[in-house]
Amino acid sequence: MQALVYNGPGQKNVEDRPKPMIQMPTDAVVRITRTTICGTDLHILKGDLATCQPGTVLGHEGVGIIDAVGAGVVSFKPGDRVLISCITACGRCNACRKGMYSHCATGGWILGHRIDGTQAEFVRIPYADTSLYPIPDGADEEALVMLSDILPTGFECGVLNGKVQPGSSVAIVGSGPIGLAALLTAQFYSPAEIIMIDLDDNRLAVGKHFGATSTVNSADGDAAQQVMKLTGGRGVDTAIEAVGIPATFTLCENIVAPGGTIANVGVHGIKVDLHLERLWSHNVTITTRLVDTVSIPMLLKTVQSKRIDAKQLITHRFKFDQILLAYDTFGKAADTKALKVIIEA
Ligand SMILES: NC(=O)c1ccc[n+]([C@@H]2O[C@H](COP(=O)([O-])OP(=O)(O)OC[C@H]3O[C@@H](n4cnc5c(N)ncnc54)[C@H](O)[C@@H]3O)[C@@H](O)[C@H]2O)c1
Ligand SMILES: [Zn+2]
Ligand SMILES: [Zn+2]
Repeated sequence: MQALVYNGPGQKNVEDRPKPMIQMPTDAVVRITRTTICGTDLHILKGDLATCQPGTVLGHEGVGIIDAVGAGVVSFKPGDRVLISCITACGRCNACRKGMYSHCATGGWILGHRIDGTQAEFVRIPYADTSLYPIPDGADEEALVMLSDILPTGFECGVLNGKVQPGSSVAIVGSGPIGLAALLTAQFYSPAEIIMIDLDDNRLAVGKHFGATSTVNSADGDAAQQVMKLTGGRGVDTAIEAVGIPATFTLCENIVAPGGTIANVGVHGIKVDLHLERLWSHNVTITTRLVDTVSIPMLLKTVQSKRIDAKQLITHRFKFDQILLAYDTFGKAADTKALKVIIEA
């Protein structure tokens, strides 16, 4: 089969690989029909994640059709259409029993990281019963690819942890796919204000179209002042960090209102200052989370009922033999205006 293989920092190739086999009775092998590229795949290619060994097939998102199941799989059979969670869950360890699948003792984020991932014709999924979701008849499979990672991440790490409330004020720092997913799912709770902040005017325009009440371009360095002006000097009840660099976390510290919450989503590679000399008296909460994907079944219903239009996040489509072009397009988002790219097998 054809697969996109990480061969060390800066190196990726389309290679011919043997089709994966069932290794454990709880495994399934899925024939991928649609997958996508995540910012995290670019992090791996930069060499930021030493835990990903050269030779690994990348990708942790996608939908497909069950090709084979191990003897212990009870919920799926060959031919079933499935959505793949970016998080693998055994369903039985302490973390899984708490719904914290991201910290599953033998799973978690392993796909396209510690084991071969979804940017291939076939993928082996461990713990298939608890790591795959059935696709309802007639569902739009392209839209469902957004449920593997992007929508649960924006919702769980940003909106739920950030305690977005009816009538509250929200600022989302970073208007990439994750920030936009937080924007779409924050609207379940009808906040009064949602301010999108980014350096890229195109992404801010997308944010406006997706329901932001205002946008702030932070290139001038006065984003905090602009947010204060928009909120009558109070700041925001929820500040969602969806970039992953010190400057944007500091911005959240500067715009959170007394009693508010900073919900960190971004993956941080270097240390960030915590300004307790100011925040100690502000009654604020700071949360962090690796996505658990426990919200996939709920989000699936909201996509099915058209409460949210997940497909809006898709800007480009490629066939699998164009996957290198897909990476190029996704990697140059400022020029290509790419958000999510679909790769069809
Ligand atoms: N916690 C989790 O479980 C989890 C899961 C998936 C992704 N992530 C992380 O979420 C973050 C966002 O992901 P994404 O795919 O949307 O990334 P992305 O790179 O596509 O988007 C980031 C956005 O931030 C903007 N930005 C950069 N510097 C900025 C600044 N100084 N001020 C304002 N905006 C700035 C960029 O223009 C871009 O639009 C990444 O760090 C990613 O690794 C976390
Ligand atoms: Zn991802
Ligand atoms: Zn587990």
